[in-house]
Amino acid sequence: MKLIIDNANIDDIRSMYEFFPMDGVTCNPTILAKEKRNPYDVLKEIRDFIEDGELHVQVVSEDSDTMVEEAYRILKELGNNTYIKIPTNKEGLRAIRILAAAGIHVTATAIYTQMQAFLAAKAGASYVAPYINRIDNLGSDGVRTAREIHDMFRNYGFKTEVLAASFKNSRQVITLCEYGIGATTISPDVLDLLIKNDSVVAALHTFRDDFEGLCGKGKTMLNC
Ligand code: G3P
Repeated sequence: MKLIIDNANIDDIRSMYEFFPMDGVTCNPTILAKEKRNPYDVLKEIRDFIEDGELHVQVVSEDSDTMVEEAYRILKELGNNTYIKIPTNKEGLRAIRILAAAGIHVTATAIYTQMQAFLAAKAGASYVAPYINRIDNLGSDGVRTAREIHDMFRNYGFKTEVLAASFKNSRQVITLCEYGIGATTISPDVLDLLIKNDSVVAALHTFRDDFEGLCGKGKTMLNC
């Protein structure tokens, strides 16, 4: 499962890349707005840092022809291995088909239903991004939706992968990880929750205290 960070803050991205085995960065217009800077300045900084890693950037236009124009501008600015995020509505499906036919990587986003995912895959999307937590908040089951989409793609032999997005807790991530989903994109706070465990903290304190009891305060295997 690819592990992608859903964020556009360069300090957070650097920190997450320092500690976690990351595979790329996704963002959306809301995430970019939080940076309060020109979007291309922010994205170019991210591109420089992640080098040729996956960078997923969303179009904002609402009609398919302008979505396609936006896609080419994004690619011109941000280069190879940039995935164009296209909302999966009727206009978006047309844009996905046009871009995919031109060999451009597309991430079909704002996926709430299996049928959107099927249509996006058939139009040629490389990824579809179901919004796990937002689906949960509609009283449905985001994790189940993502698993059903994954199974549907396997049944049809589509190459499209699920890039699950919108997580609010580590259980949602772990269930999809166990299932073998293609990728997840996760905010820094939820990424931290994947490894946060008070039992681990307590075990390490005991190891340190016992060792210091043996060798003295601050001693380690370096200087005992
Ligand atoms: O980019 C789409 C998705 O990541 C949104 O997540 O947390 O705003 O529901 P969230």
